[in-house]
Amino acid sequence: MYIPDEKRYEKMKYLRCGRSGILLPRISLGLWHNFGSADRFENMVDMIHAAFDAGITHFDLANNYGPVYGSAEENFGRILDRDMRPFRDEMIISTKAGYDMWPGPYGDHGSRKYLMASLDQSLKRMKLDYVDIFYHHRPDPDTPIEETMEALSDIVRSGKALYVGISNYDSEGTRRAAEILRANHTPLLINQVRYSMLDRWTEEDGLQDTCEEVGAGMICFSPLAQGVLTDRYLQGVPDDSRAKKNFFLHEDSLTPELMEKVRKLNEIASGRGQTLAEMALAWILRRDRVTSVLVGASRPEQILTNVKFLDKLDFTEDELSEIDKVLG
Ligand SMILES: NC(=O)c1ccc[n+]([C@@H]2O[C@H](COP(=O)([O-])OP(=O)(O)OC[C@H]3O[C@@H](n4cnc5c(N)ncnc54)[C@H](OP(=O)(O)O)[C@@H]3O)[C@@H](O)[C@H]2O)c1
Repeated sequence: MYIPDEKRYEKMKYLRCGRSGILLPRISLGLWHNFGSADRFENMVDMIHAAFDAGITHFDLANNYGPVYGSAEENFGRILDRDMRPFRDEMIISTKAGYDMWPGPYGDHGSRKYLMASLDQSLKRMKLDYVDIFYHHRPDPDTPIEETMEALSDIVRSGKALYVGISNYDSEGTRRAAEILRANHTPLLINQVRYSMLDRWTEEDGLQDTCEEVGAGMICFSPLAQGVLTDRYLQGVPDDSRAKKNFFLHEDSLTPELMEKVRKLNEIASGRGQTLAEMALAWILRRDRVTSVLVGASRPEQILTNVKFLDKLDFTEDELSEIDKVLG
């Protein structure tokens, strides 16, 4: 029987998500990879336990995480059944719809029909009555944004989600979404976007300011650039790595120029007494403008080492300019 670590909440730091009542852990766990139908169930259980024991309360899913689509939600439901359901009220569980999920015109994008049906399917797969956060996974330029946002508000009113979020929306889309949701008496809780030392589009877009302005939190996915900002690829491409699977992270994207930058960043991290992964996470959270970093993992040890960054979030001006110089 699983007995969670009694000291878990002392180990983690939590930050308020925008102007909501919800505190999110500074590090959250995503189930995009390594929770699919071909992955080892016992390893998934160990990763969820390791995360929960470290004070990670937020678990992020989507309808199509797997492969096969839906299998990450099914596996998460099995883990809840096994020994995590007693802790349901200590967890923030999110799911999403917005990318392709089932064949035909109603299994993709941003229609009311798709969002409502997809959330019902997700709840069945996880055997849950409600999720804490339901996201529209990406903007859909062909569906009126009013339709998508009204569907999200109605989902909250139905009790199937407690809060709503958007993902991959830029500043302009975020402002519009927040405005429509506000008019429907549903605050926008959060925007989920890609952000790392290697991908800074949100800075150019001013999205951090926009989220603050509309009162929403921001959670950043792929903060380790899918593993590139770790020591994973410093000695080549391991057989069990994401780059070897060559699907979402391509082996040929690990160019000599990129790996030279990673090596220099690794040296800066060593100088700070951190691993590169720890420094990459600390860099994102060094100011309290990002609510949480959403990491992935392929084994429990990665989660255990990644949470250590919380001990050292501050950077000197020299360190920051050295990092900027490496990144170009
Ligand atoms: N909203 C969206 O559109 C969207 C898109 C993408 C992701 N997401 C969310 O964001 C979550 C995280 O994305 P991500 O998995 O790309 O994040 P990530 O944290 O940048 O990458 C995770 C990968 O990095 C490697 N890693 C992690 N810790 C490590 C360590 N200490 N040492 C060495 N390697 C380490 C592992 O790779 P190996 O597998 O090679 O070990 C792991 O699978 C997803 O699960 C999902 O919930 C959302």
